[in-house]
Amino acid sequence: MKTNFFLFALVVLACCQLSLSQRSTKKPTTKKPSKTAKPGKSTERPGPSKLSCDQSTPLKFSSLGTDKDLLANPERGYYHHHEIKLSKYSKLSDEEMKKWAKEGVTLALMIFNIEPFVKKPLSDDTLKNIAADFGALRKGGMKGIVRFSYNQTDIKGDPDKYNFPKTTDAEKSQLLSHIKQLATIFKDNVDVINVVQIGFIGHWGEWYYSRNYATEKKGEGWKPDKKQQADRDEIVKALMQAVPKSRMLQIRYPSAKMRLYGNENLKPGGDRTSERARLGIHNDCFLAKGGDEGTFETENNKEAAQRKWLEQEGLSVMVSGESCQKNDKTGCTEAKKQIEKQRFTYLNTDFKETVIKEWRNDKCYNYIGNKIGYRFELVKGSLQSTVKKGASFCLSLDIKNSGVAPLYNERPLEIILRDQKTKQSKSVKPIPYQPKVDPRSFLPGKTTSIQVTVQVPSELSPSQYDVILNLPDGSPSLKDEPKYRILFANGGKVHDKVNRFNIIGQITVQ
Ligand SMILES: *[C@@H]1O[C@H](CO)[C@@H](O)[C@H](O)[C@H]1NC(C)=O
Repeated sequence: MKTNFFLFALVVLACCQLSLSQRSTKKPTTKKPSKTAKPGKSTERPGPSKLSCDQSTPLKFSSLGTDKDLLANPERGYYHHHEIKLSKYSKLSDEEMKKWAKEGVTLALMIFNIEPFVKKPLSDDTLKNIAADFGALRKGGMKGIVRFSYNQTDIKGDPDKYNFPKTTDAEKSQLLSHIKQLATIFKDNVDVINVVQIGFIGHWGEWYYSRNYATEKKGEGWKPDKKQQADRDEIVKALMQAVPKSRMLQIRYPSAKMRLYGNENLKPGGDRTSERARLGIHNDCFLAKGGDEGTFETENNKEAAQRKWLEQEGLSVMVSGESCQKNDKTGCTEAKKQIEKQRFTYLNTDFKETVIKEWRNDKCYNYIGNKIGYRFELVKGSLQSTVKKGASFCLSLDIKNSGVAPLYNERPLEIILRDQKTKQSKSVKPIPYQPKVDPRSFLPGKTTSIQVTVQVPSELSPSQYDVILNLPDGSPSLKDEPKYRILFANGGKVHDKVNRFNIIGQITVQ
């Protein structure tokens, strides 16, 4: 069923002659004469070389307001918290996900509670159940933020005064063998995994109250000794191995990443496959006092430096989290600032309830939900009005990322031609980009200019076509699934909401 629309669409991947430039939208730029003004050059010559957008007509786009409804898009935005009790398994329901989708939510924090297995291997049934939940996400058009935890029990009163049992988590050899068992599941379900949080260690998988990987000291809290630190590092590396290289992991504290991989920031657009380039941060006490409750180290003026580090690091790796306490800084004003400073890609909509309620009452809930992560907008562009079949046409677009973070998981950018009248098509082999436009390079606050030439297949019937910009999922299993495509934050006639295509304009093929 889902492939129906593709019968009506010709997928033509734009080829060659692609230029890409980027500028900040914050700095005012002096107006230059329009590139489209120069007449006289022929663009009719087929083939990729010597094409320019000289004979194109300008395209204008309007922006969607950030205060309107949430614009749902994959791999970003608010998430729902969902715990999977593997001792009493029940699969994530379609009804639940339909509710989430209506709210504009596309992500779920999937906390797999593996408490029964703290001293033994994961059973076959449990492995099947974990896989079944990923299947549910796929069916529901959602993606998971994945975390494993050996204990999710609520602690009444102050956890600092609580006597935790020895089994806050599994001993190292057991824990490492659980990770090994899960590797196949990660691989088979990488399409619906947005990111994997390191988890495993400590009560709630939060890396703090841990009998095996920390030592409790009066007045100092719970900290790893040398051996425990080495064990933690080994666990991080084991997870890096078990999770496919195309996905990132997240660690709870900036200092934990800096200790492992150094204080230097990654360079945006640089290396994407090393362990360092695959490790993001989850701040689960966003806007709390005391350096977001220890997320940033408050001693020796480290906090300011770590915050600065995160603002830059977030241009390369995923940052996310939730609020954990209500105070005089959790309101809209500070929250709006901090989502940008910490480059949040997703936030919990279920916690902390009082904080979320305040955002709703003071009308910044939608603004925050629309700004976190990437938010792509068409600013302007140009497109030829006619093209001969078999020839190439030129398309230029200015794309702004008005969100606070980039897109992190790889996905293609393609151009589709859809016959407006007959809705019929022949299948055509797509010609790949050379070089490719990588939407991960659309940095927050910047406008990226792309220019592409599209080779019109000679078998295409003369007619009027919609020119569509499509950003489908990067996994073959989800590529044709509209729910996983990126819809741009534009008004007017850009949205084809059924297919989640972005209609750029029209061209007549002669
Ligand atoms: C989980 O934590 C609770 C609270 O500390 C404790 O009572 C329970 O025994 C723990 N479960 C395991 C398997 O340790």
